Amino acid sequence: MGTLVFAAKVEDVKEGEILPLILQETPIALTRVNGEVRAFGDICTHDDGPLAEGYIEDRCVVCPRHGAKFDLETGKPTFPAVKPIPIYRVVIQGDEVWIEMPEASLL
Ligand code: FES
Repeated sequence: MGTLVFAAKVEDVKEGEILPLILQETPIALTRVNGEVRAFGDICTHDDGPLAEGYIEDRCVVCPRHGAKFDLETGKPTFPAVKPIPIYRVVIQGDEVWIEMPEASLL
């Protein structure tokens, strides 16, 4: 069980757009897919590309550097990335988006 951290106002997370944040010194990005807010690690596992500078396509985020696509439900990548990105649990409280940060990232 992690710790809930305030991330953004719900209205600031828009379908098809990517909102980059630093939470607990961790780069995280928010987007909205079919109305649901998603939170994911903002560093490509291929070569550290900034995923928030990429784009959303087919429920995935596409890395702007070499085109790896990461599933926003599972974090699983396509070539050339092989390791998944972290996907964070999102909790909506009123008009606020909160993210569950794993304990390890609080150290
Ligand atoms: S850095 Fe993301 S695909 Fe290469």
